[in-house]
Amino acid sequence: MKSIYRIVLLAVFTFSFTGGYPQQDPETEKKIETLVSQMTLAEKVGQMNQLNGGRPAGYVAEAVRNGQVGSILNGTDVKTINELQRIAVEESRLKIPLVFARDVIHGYKTIFPIPLGQAASWNPAIAEKGAQVAAQEASSAGIRWTFAPMIDVTREPRWGRIAESCGEDTYLTSVMEVAMIKGFQGDNLSAPTSIAACAKHFAGYGAAEAGKDYNTTWIPEQLLREVYLPPFKAATDAGAATFMCAFNDLNGVPASANEFLIRDILRDEWKYDGMMVSDWGSVKEMVMHGFCADEKEAAERAAKAGVDMDMDDQVYFHHLEQLVKEGTVDEKLLDEAVRNILRLKFRLGLFENPYADEKTANDFYRESSLEAAKQAAIEGTILLDNKNSVLPLQNTITSVAVVGPLSHAPADQIGTWCFDGEPAHSVTPAMAIQKEYGSKIKVLTEAGLTYSRDKNKEGIEKAVAVGKQADVILFFAGEEAILSGEARCRADIGFPGAQTEMLEALKQTGKPVVMIVMCGRPMTIGKEIEMADATLLAFHGGTMAGPALADILIGKAVPSGKLPVTMPRMAGQIPIYYNHKSTGRPASDITLIDDIEIGAEQTSIGFTSYHLDAGDSPLYPFGYGLSYTTFEYSSIRLDKNELTKDSPIMASVTVKNTGNYKAAEVVQLYIRDLVSGSVTRPVKELKGFRKITLEPGESEEVSFEITEEMLRFWNTRNEWISEPGDFHLFIGSSSADVKQAHFVLK
Ligand code: GLC
Repeated sequence: MKSIYRIVLLAVFTFSFTGGYPQQDPETEKKIETLVSQMTLAEKVGQMNQLNGGRPAGYVAEAVRNGQVGSILNGTDVKTINELQRIAVEESRLKIPLVFARDVIHGYKTIFPIPLGQAASWNPAIAEKGAQVAAQEASSAGIRWTFAPMIDVTREPRWGRIAESCGEDTYLTSVMEVAMIKGFQGDNLSAPTSIAACAKHFAGYGAAEAGKDYNTTWIPEQLLREVYLPPFKAATDAGAATFMCAFNDLNGVPASANEFLIRDILRDEWKYDGMMVSDWGSVKEMVMHGFCADEKEAAERAAKAGVDMDMDDQVYFHHLEQLVKEGTVDEKLLDEAVRNILRLKFRLGLFENPYADEKTANDFYRESSLEAAKQAAIEGTILLDNKNSVLPLQNTITSVAVVGPLSHAPADQIGTWCFDGEPAHSVTPAMAIQKEYGSKIKVLTEAGLTYSRDKNKEGIEKAVAVGKQADVILFFAGEEAILSGEARCRADIGFPGAQTEMLEALKQTGKPVVMIVMCGRPMTIGKEIEMADATLLAFHGGTMAGPALADILIGKAVPSGKLPVTMPRMAGQIPIYYNHKSTGRPASDITLIDDIEIGAEQTSIGFTSYHLDAGDSPLYPFGYGLSYTTFEYSSIRLDKNELTKDSPIMASVTVKNTGNYKAAEVVQLYIRDLVSGSVTRPVKELKGFRKITLEPGESEEVSFEITEEMLRFWNTRNEWISEPGDFHLFIGSSSADVKQAHFVLK
């Protein structure tokens, strides 16, 4: 049955998603065929083998000389890289260049905010610039391939890798990651400052059960197609040079051997001809999954599924040759993998220019790069709460106390996944506030707690003493970097250590307390936000987090960040996300646990969908973020009320800056399919956004074109369709604060 529908699907996909992926160059394809025809079986296996540069140098050099390596990851010294490349292109039999790879996730030396923080900017230009700076710096160190962007949509703040994601929404993730791919790869992948991007982890990794890394994922095809796959399709269309398969088993089949994902969808439907690399050891781990009896079977299953290159576990290197010789694996599969690998190397220009330029090597920390990192940290900071407009700090203050475990934490503020970042280059909040404002006001500093998990309360007294001497207390709290990222999952996502107790003690001083949270995930800190007079969510903001926050606190910059992920009140609400289904009993007449009469009867309170001890709403919704100014939205104007395939609707609002600060606002467009005969639909889906900047008193009309294509969904018959009927359209400043209009799809 499926194949019939796939024809339908293929037609739709071809019609609606063509374009993007670079067309094959006939000349290059001829060179590839010539090389493949000259290669021995051992040399083909060699190209499919990626080695960690940290292995013994002699071993790596010998393997390269013998044509047993196609790529090296984690080698970062330009001279070593060029020496290994020289061996490959001068001493190996076929002189095929190596491609050198590294995880350059949110910066190489100049570290940008973690991707979740970049997504909070809702500004693709920020993400593109960040990737471009990363590519310039990494390529100057000889790296030409990064394992980024991570485009796993996730609804799991317990999962450490939410830090590396662009959050819970498919559309926002797609827009931000396409910008990152463009930033990494530039307009010409063969330019020496371009590096190959890697769309990872294919697929569904962000749905790990319980937010526990590497855990099982169960994702029905309808959800997979609508939520988890579209960013990967967008990456294909954007020309991502490589893909990486995920660690997790998806519906019982590990991604490293998942033919449905790699062969049916990526290669057959999407026509992707880039290169697929495994994740670190993910081929070998199929034995631990209990999916393969031994490493030899793991090599067979991964090769048959279409994993072109094996990252560091050498399972291909040890078993593929034998598998071909005994007839278990067809050599044609290796030819296909090798073509994909060679095509990447040709597209990178490595055959013509295999070496890193040692004269311009290690070109890091350009002033323009640091400025871009600061701007990214500014735009990625979200103003969650601002009681009595205590922010921005008034110029009447004469002293501030800069306290908390993240007030001067150079290594933690750059966050997870920055192997090459240098804390010595971090400008912390304490440093920046002292430098920027120390000549005008008194800046008192006292960490109080020495790290985020610190339970030793002795230091709190010193911080309180400093707080008492200041007009305003700036409390920098959150998570150390080690509590975020791969395999750093938490069941309780509140403040670790004695940070809450520290805030309580600071509150006792009676001074205004501004809390700045530097972390790798949404945290359940509702009680702390209630205690503070204002709260900024800055995520791990990178090298220039300090200057960015100093400018925001004093009003030189106005916060414009919006949540790329829902903030739960408590972990027990997870998963909680904005684009949820209605259910047959959406939450209504909520009676919270402490309001229930003692001895209440079974039928004395309502029967709708909510938690007695949390209600139904999150702490803050997707798309939420305040400003120092206020914005007023007009009602939505539609140019007509009926939409057809050939006649889209134009929806407009007028947004006015009704406050006193020039500021940016992210105008968001959502839709809801009110009645769908084939599958229930989410109560909202983000379909567009526009970031505008308005002077005080200025208005701007913002328009969105609503097309039939935007209304399509994946139905239970595996078709990508839209259905005639009634729709709501929403435009507003968050997923919860919107104007509403109605239209009909004919
Ligand atoms: C890691 C990650 C992957 C990374 C790779 C190489 O385990 O899952 O995202 O690119 O190994 O470091």
